[in-house]
Amino acid sequence: QLGEAASRLDCNAYVVGGFVRDLFLYRSNEDIDIVIEGNGIEFARTFARESGARIHTHEKFGTAVIIFPDGFKIDVASARMEYYQFPASLPVVEMSSIKMDMFRRDFTINTLAIQLNPGNFGRLIDFFSSQKDIKDKVLRVLHNMSFVEDPTRVFRALRFEQRFGFTIGKLTSSLIDNAVKMNFFKRLAGKRVYAELKLILKEENPAPTILRLLDYDLLRVIHPDLIIETDFKTLLDTAKKVTDWHDLLFIDETYERWAVHFMTLIRHCGLKATREICTHLTIAPRYAKMFGENRLSTEKQLSLLERRKRMTHADVYNLLKGFKTEMILYMMVCTTSRMAKKRISHYHTQLRNVTITISGKDLLKMDIKPGPIYSKILQAVLEAKLNGVLRTREDEFNFARE
Ligand code: CTP
Repeated sequence: QLGEAASRLDCNAYVVGGFVRDLFLYRSNEDIDIVIEGNGIEFARTFARESGARIHTHEKFGTAVIIFPDGFKIDVASARMEYYQFPASLPVVEMSSIKMDMFRRDFTINTLAIQLNPGNFGRLIDFFSSQKDIKDKVLRVLHNMSFVEDPTRVFRALRFEQRFGFTIGKLTSSLIDNAVKMNFFKRLAGKRVYAELKLILKEENPAPTILRLLDYDLLRVIHPDLIIETDFKTLLDTAKKVTDWHDLLFIDETYERWAVHFMTLIRHCGLKATREICTHLTIAPRYAKMFGENRLSTEKQLSLLERRKRMTHADVYNLLKGFKTEMILYMMVCTTSRMAKKRISHYHTQLRNVTITISGKDLLKMDIKPGPIYSKILQAVLEAKLNGVLRTREDEFNFARE
């Protein structure tokens, strides 16, 4: 349908980028990017009208998003010759719009396009030996200025290298070395660094990419003296294990997995350094608080869970209640004490779900005079229940009466 609509508007439509790359890698990908040789916005508008979808447009960039009633989205971009401005050092060659569009991209593996117009439907376009590089499992930039144009591509290179188990080509690797040596990242806005970092932390296993950032001395882009201790690798691996453990047990629970990895990354940073990181990366106040004050406040809890030999279930509950899943998992990552780990996992799998059936209304029926005593009684009932003293509703009533 996309191709038919494009042909009617007398333009060419291609599905491009990650979606096509992932077809060749046998990986699923639901992000569909369409490039139109012509006016992408006009195409999106027409297509949306005909298929009952909405669109969002960015006139300035010639891009649009088609949003279907079920929430599915398709990104549309325009490939038009007049958009391209290249650094003076690049050769000026005659290129079709789609070829130009592909040439602007980061790595050869992202330059495949499949035409959608009827008549040419399914025609694979591979201008830059993308298929060969995918087959050889190698990441290459398209030209020597790639990281000058966009230094965030260095982060992308390491992310793709680890995600796909590819190697970085020799020339590309030396261009990365050069980018690091010349510190191309100096002029990179913190916001963009944060966006790249988040993408890394959202990978299935962020640890290897973070270690590669460390190899290239790129963690200093986050903060010049991000504290890396000898336990760094172990911590990152533990964060993966702990989050996997959680995700397996609580499939339906949503939390910000990447935030657990982020906190692990800044594990040894104090409040001052954390605040500097949050300011530099322009992290939203909600997260800045989580990464700073909230994260550091877990140290007190952790040391009690690690050192106190005797603790009731209610003690553990009272220590950990109020902490969000991200923080609970972060604590599990940080502790090396088996006892503390056990206590935290017991809290998270069981204690946090314990509730009592008795309420203030029931206390009123028992002729107990309302007042602060109510919350004390209810708290005592909950603690007794946590400690396994009360089993039935009747037990709760009897306990409250006493
Ligand atoms: N791109 C680029 N330079 C960047 C970022 C993106 O050239 N700094 C290009 C890539 O070629 C990519 C396309 O823009 O194919 C879309 O990028 P993105 O949305 O990040 O998609 P993917 O490459 O598919 O990445 P992911 O699989 O992580 O979604």
